[in-house]
Amino acid sequence: MGTCTFRASSEQALQRRATVLKDSGLGVGWRGGDLGKGNSYRFKSPDGHDMELVWDVEYAQVAPEDKSPLLNRPSKRPAQGIPVRRLDHVNLLCSNVTKNKDAFLDLLGFRLSEHIVAGDGSEIAAWTRVTSLAHDVAFMLDATGSRGRLHHVCYWYGYPQHLMDVADLFAENNITVEAGPGKHGISQANFLYCIEPGGNRVELFGDAGYLIFDPAWKPITWTEAELARGIIWIGSSLPAEFFRYGTPIVHESVGSVAAE
Ligand SMILES: [Fe+2]
Repeated sequence: MGTCTFRASSEQALQRRATVLKDSGLGVGWRGGDLGKGNSYRFKSPDGHDMELVWDVEYAQVAPEDKSPLLNRPSKRPAQGIPVRRLDHVNLLCSNVTKNKDAFLDLLGFRLSEHIVAGDGSEIAAWTRVTSLAHDVAFMLDATGSRGRLHHVCYWYGYPQHLMDVADLFAENNITVEAGPGKHGISQANFLYCIEPGGNRVELFGDAGYLIFDPAWKPITWTEAELARGIIWIGSSLPAEFFRYGTPIVHESVGSVAAE
């Protein structure tokens, strides 16, 4: 992951959050505009992931021939591949889940949706949100002990058939499918994980996930014994590298993370 950019809800919100981040010691500083965006406030997660907040962005200029007669669409539906609708969430590997999760809750206003807690009380993973999605940012314990790595970035697809179509496309074009198509316990969405040719894990996610509108939502706690069911709803085995593989890649002997 280069930089994970979040858009603030206003210029004032950007300034407020920049002050909070600066005071926390996680702030790096302001940076002038970059492609498609204006001034950003750069900061690091406690684990060292590079991040920034921005308000000013350039909206896409769509060529007349690509405009849709359905006026609330940014452009015509592509005639190939599958029409993913948005970047849905990012999942970050961390050396310490609680420390990173708490920074997002305390400094940026995120809320905890679900988490997995080990027998000793430590958090193995946490799913947090700042919208009504079940999660916008997830944190998972890096079993290699590395800091600041990416587990995956995720696109939302629209309809169940898209998941089968993308699985076909990957199978026929030598794209590694790590897990899925399947259904998550945590978040309840259907999913597929692939490793794109550059080595990053990418998730396709959609159709069955839930939304959170309850302002008094109580976080769901899964135990370590329920971990496999949390990731894959029927509790089937996870790929051995699921909690060890991330980018940048670290070279080590791969252990086993499997369901009971
Ligand atoms: Fe995900």
